[in-house]
Amino acid sequence: MFTIGILASGKGSNVQAIIDRIKDGYLSSVKIGMVLSDNPDSKALKIAEKEGIKNIYIPPGNHKTFMDCNAEKEYVRILKENKVELVCLAGFMRIIKQAFFTEFKDKIINIHPSLLPAFPGVKAWIQAFDYGVKFTGCTVHFVQQQPVDSGPIIFQAVVPVFYDDTYETLYQRIQIKEHIIYPYVIKLISEDKIFISKGKVIIK
Ligand code: GRF
Repeated sequence: MFTIGILASGKGSNVQAIIDRIKDGYLSSVKIGMVLSDNPDSKALKIAEKEGIKNIYIPPGNHKTFMDCNAEKEYVRILKENKVELVCLAGFMRIIKQAFFTEFKDKIINIHPSLLPAFPGVKAWIQAFDYGVKFTGCTVHFVQQQPVDSGPIIFQAVVPVFYDDTYETLYQRIQIKEHIIYPYVIKLISEDKIFISKGKVIIK
């Protein structure tokens, strides 16, 4: 089994999508080792609990945008202890730092709700909508330390912006695509079909 660990702070729809794809056999050789969160009220933890998946709230410390050193070490310790081979960020609202990159080099991925490199940062679909782009979407990428939402792009899906869209309708359609491409990328990585060459991702 290829064991992944998911870090999530929010409502957990991507956690649910990955679970659903394991259950329906699409990700038959993938196992979620655990879901970790910096938010005790995260629905992602509740989803994991309901599905019988180990789920742990780890207090992040006193900072707003990142974890303190001890918290970060604790995340890494638990992921290592459970033999996690791929760390999947799914709406984890903290910047991760050195301890992660030392232990999980090229083994951390993230999903972002825009077509990177356009609109990094928070609420990317609102940034895209307000800018007036006609197409946006979502991106799965390897995580690198700096800057935020950078790192080699693995896969993207395009979503058109309609004249009568609102922030909400646009984001709903982006999330539908997220729930397709995140499991897809996890499958490719679990099958060893993705590698990085000269800073770019090649899919075998
Ligand atoms: C997703 O839109 C993802 O792109 C972003 O955070 C959101 C998490 O959504 N990084 P959910 O909690 O999985 O529903």
